[in-house]
Parts: sequence; structure tokens; C-alpha cells
Amino acid sequence: MTQDDAKHAVAQRAVEFVESGMRVGLGTGTTSTMFIRALAEQVQRGLKIRCVASSDASHHLGLSLGMDVTTLDELPELDIYVDGADEVCVQDAGLNLIKGGGAALLREKIVASAAKRFLVVVDSSKVVAQLGAFPLPVEVIKMALPLVRPRLAALGLEPKLRMKKDGSGPLHTDEDNYILDCMCGAIPDPAAIAAAIRAIVGVVEHGLFLHMSNLALVAGDDGVRELHG
Ligand code: A5P
Repeated sequence: MTQDDAKHAVAQRAVEFVESGMRVGLGTGTTSTMFIRALAEQVQRGLKIRCVASSDASHHLGLSLGMDVTTLDELPELDIYVDGADEVCVQDAGLNLIKGGGAALLREKIVASAAKRFLVVVDSSKVVAQLGAFPLPVEVIKMALPLVRPRLAALGLEPKLRMKKDGSGPLHTDEDNYILDCMCGAIPDPAAIAAAIRAIVGVVEHGLFLHMSNLALVAGDDGVRELHG
């Protein structure tokens, strides 16, 4: 099974968790895009749902597929949020994640926090014994960059400003901030590093999602399995 096949399989399975009448949070990234497309097919067949998306890209994708996508102003409480992750780890009786590879971590954390349930959808390559091989994204207010970067480095991280794919300059998030991708190495105590990063003035959010979900759907050669935290 290729990684794309696995993402497709897990996206299809996640649709089964959505029932008519639900308010659904739409994630961001390639797996979430497959989920949104699979969900839109069910909407076309009569599934009645309302949605809020965690990025401009997913918002516009949903609308273009005929879905009812609105904002937290109208739907401040959601029944379920479905999104991918860059790393998933079962730790301290819960799931810990690194997210933000698609630069949407701030809105993702906001929309996830509005939902009663956060269903993580990943291929098996994302499941790790310890977080930290994937660079941890940290969203930073632009004017604070010269202050935040050395303070992250002083924590033993190696922050690198994320650039646009075409190399034409720094990437701007949907909320018009910068992203610093931090090489951490293994993160044995995610709560401690999360608190230390959060304490730096000018940091808006970081990509550690700690105990925000207790269920991941994981697709691999053996099919789609449930990973409980
Ligand atoms: C977006 O900012 C991310 O948090 C994604 O959810 C994460 O990077 C997983 O993306 P893929 O589904 O594209 O692997």
C-alpha cells in the first residue's frame, strides 16, 4: 500500500464517524483534503452537516464541493474535528501529536478545541514511539522574530524560518504570522517543552497537541486500525 493509498483508506473510514446533523471541523493537509472530498460525496448523497475549516484552503475546498462551510462565529461548538498529523505518539494515557507541517497549526488547534471529539487520521508512518523527529512548527508574530528565534535556540531547539515553496520569501500563515520549524530531537517531556515555548513573548502557538485526542485511525498494510490513547 502506498502512502497515498493509506491516506485515502483512512479518509474513507473517517467519514463513517460523521452522522447527519453533526457540526464538523475540517482539518488541513493532504489527508484532510481526501477526507473533505470523501465527506462531500456523502453530502451530495444527502448527509446533512455544517462545517468549520481550519484553513482558508480547506474552507474554499469545502465550499467548492458544495458543502456548508461557515465560521466559528456561527458554529462555536462542533461535534467532531477530523485532521491529520505529522507525528502521533501514545504517551501518558493519551495521544500526543506534532502538527503544523502545512502551517495551519494555530487555526487547527482553535478548531480542535471547539470540538467535543478530535479524530486523528494518519498513515502508519506517522506513528512514533517518541515525538521529535519531525521539526516542531512554532507560529510567531512577525515583529517578534528577532526576539523569539534566539530564545527558542536557548531552549536547545534549532529554529529555522519557513520559506514559501517557491523560495520568494518567508511563508505567511493564514493569520499572517511566521513559522519557525524547530529541530528538537527526541522530546521525552512534551508538556515541559510546550510550556517553555509558550512562555516566550511573541509566540502565538506551537505544534504540540497534547491530549487533545484519544483516538487515531491509522492506515497501513494491515488495513485501518484504531489507536487509542
Ligand atoms: C497542517 O498544518 C498539518 O497539521 C497537517 O495536518 C499535517 O501536516 C498532516 O498533513 P498530511 O495529511 O498532508 O500528511
